[in-house]
Amino acid sequence: ALVSLRQLLDHAAEHSYGLPAFNVNNLEQVKAIMEAADECNSPVIMQGSAGARKYAGEPFLRHLIEAAVEMYPHIPVVMHQDHGASEAVCINAIRSGFSSVMMDGSLLADGKTPSSFEYNVNISRRVAEMSHAVGVSVEGELGCLGSLESGEGEKEDGHGAEGVLSHDQLLTDPEEAAEFVRQTGVDALAIAIGTSHGAYKFTRPPTGAVLRIDRIREIHERLPNTHLVMHGSSSVPQEWLKIINEFGGTMGETYGVPVEEIVEGIKNGVRKVNIDTDLRMASTGATRRYLAQNTKDFDPRKFLAATTVAMKAICKARYEAFGCAGQA
Ligand code: G3H
Ligand code: 13P
Ligand code: NA
Ligand code: ZN
Repeated sequence: ALVSLRQLLDHAAEHSYGLPAFNVNNLEQVKAIMEAADECNSPVIMQGSAGARKYAGEPFLRHLIEAAVEMYPHIPVVMHQDHGASEAVCINAIRSGFSSVMMDGSLLADGKTPSSFEYNVNISRRVAEMSHAVGVSVEGELGCLGSLESGEGEKEDGHGAEGVLSHDQLLTDPEEAAEFVRQTGVDALAIAIGTSHGAYKFTRPPTGAVLRIDRIREIHERLPNTHLVMHGSSSVPQEWLKIINEFGGTMGETYGVPVEEIVEGIKNGVRKVNIDTDLRMASTGATRRYLAQNTKDFDPRKFLAATTVAMKAICKARYEAFGCAGQA
């Protein structure tokens, strides 16, 4: 059944588990996420980005998720809109039946210029008021995450007119977070605690901690009823990176957030863990390998089925690691 993010994350908080929130753009991703959830009895969060709406179109995205709800009626599913850049985007998602929206007011409507605290508070408060009136949940964001576009894209990291911000200024401030939630009433808050979007997060294998667990704890202490969200949470599986490059790809050396650190984040209050890149890499690796090894094939269902199997294994591993397996 379709449920709101608030309903699902309240349950997660009560039972001390976290949930992956997977980005979806196509049928195979939705199938992989649902088949894995069905096998390990996990609730599901699927989210559509602006890029997903551009690729599939909002009606296809929505109906894919609705089809999942119809096919797996025993699994709670949140249909979440990822990184809404304006009120209009959020209103459209609410009207079309999303059970949760993210108003990312940490950036201006251009989706790249860091905004002021006042701008963020005002726009997030307005979206929360509208959403709550119709039973839809709201995620806000406070702080500067890394790149939205892997590698060469624009960054949310303060490079630009104002110059480079120090590392600490990029992290979410606990007092500001408390004030932000008090003034906006958001159900969930995305915080900057050391992650960035895309495949190119870290250039060297992580030796020590990459997440600021201390910061998560400080924010969680002040906001026990607001669900913390961690964006940029792909682990960048080295086995898929290797397969991609073994079969003609040229991805550079790169590392993500180790699953054990995400689990530590969940122990300290993180409830929603956004993952897109990991499924992209599994899908691309499986496609490259399948086509290289089956050169006579021309039925796309063959390599698409291989992508589904590859993505499903990652989904299952995350449901199990994050503790949501068995919670549906
Ligand atoms: O938040 C970023 C997600 O990875 C979605 O990216 O806009 O390219 O679909 P996208
Ligand atoms: P990754 O790029 O680490 O998968 O993060 C996705 C994300 O945060 C979507 O909002
Ligand atoms: Na989101
Ligand atoms: Zn994100």
